[in-house]
Amino acid sequence: MTSRNPYRTLSGTSRLAGVMGWPVSHSKSPRLHGYWLAKYGIDGCYMPLPVEPENFQAALISLRNLGFSGVNVTIPQKEMAMPECDELSDRARRIGAVNTVTFAKDGRLLGDNTDGFGFLENLRQEAPDIAFASGPAVVLGAGGACRAVLVALLDEGCPEIRLANRTRKRAEDVAAEIKDPRIKVIDWPVAPDALAGASLVVNTTSLGMVGQPKLEIDLSGLPQTALVTDIVYAPLMTDLLVQAKARGNPIVDGLGMLLHQARPGFHRWFGIDPEVTQELRDFVLSPD
Ligand code: ATR
Repeated sequence: MTSRNPYRTLSGTSRLAGVMGWPVSHSKSPRLHGYWLAKYGIDGCYMPLPVEPENFQAALISLRNLGFSGVNVTIPQKEMAMPECDELSDRARRIGAVNTVTFAKDGRLLGDNTDGFGFLENLRQEAPDIAFASGPAVVLGAGGACRAVLVALLDEGCPEIRLANRTRKRAEDVAAEIKDPRIKVIDWPVAPDALAGASLVVNTTSLGMVGQPKLEIDLSGLPQTALVTDIVYAPLMTDLLVQAKARGNPIVDGLGMLLHQARPGFHRWFGIDPEVTQELRDFVLSPD
């Protein structure tokens, strides 16, 4: 779409959105949404909104009162947003966190969580033959990011999820909250044994991220057909993915999850379901 506004100035009816977090300077969301706004020639703006946790509630209400269409919410405010919303989507309630808030015309705050959607859409785009119901999944990690992955996999008919976390209690708590007998908690040290017969492996820990230790796991028991994916995307090729690729497993990196999770918010606020393309991936990763 060609814009008749080459200077991309805002108008009096621009749609406004942004990402709230503390800190928020690391967030790639303004670049991502900004790319789509320019690509589709939309009269809108998506801005970083650094908000200290103690000001979160007041800031959220202020943004609504300022006429914003909605906001994304990032760490550490994803859980804080839950009680502030007047309505929660089923998936937000089950995941226990909100990453997308839409301000309805009547002033109500509608909370959603699109992380699981992003996780699934990334795999569907990058591995179109994926069949989530075809076999057990192994999920590593029981931190903030794992719940969206668990709920998404369960909803797609995954027959069994083997969940391993360094701190076993945390995995047990997550399993008890989601309450689905298909989640089997296993001990972290025996996670390599749980790879036998798996069709999907997902790392949701912070291991492998820049500045963090590597995720060291012996993949020798994993079927070569199993898809291996990582929600870490910095670096794009984590050690887990390098190791999996070297032994012939299909792999999908974690960047697409970030890009796809942004689509529902963009669609609601700006009216277009935007496309995730290689050009977008390159743009989001480029430093300038
Ligand atoms: P987030 O909310 O961003 O996911 P988090 O809740 O701290 O962050 O979760 C980090 C995940 O990485 C957890 O599963 C954590 O395991 P613990 O629950 O035992 O802390 C996992 N993790 C971090 N460092 C780890 C390490 N050195 N070995 C194994 N797991 C690790």
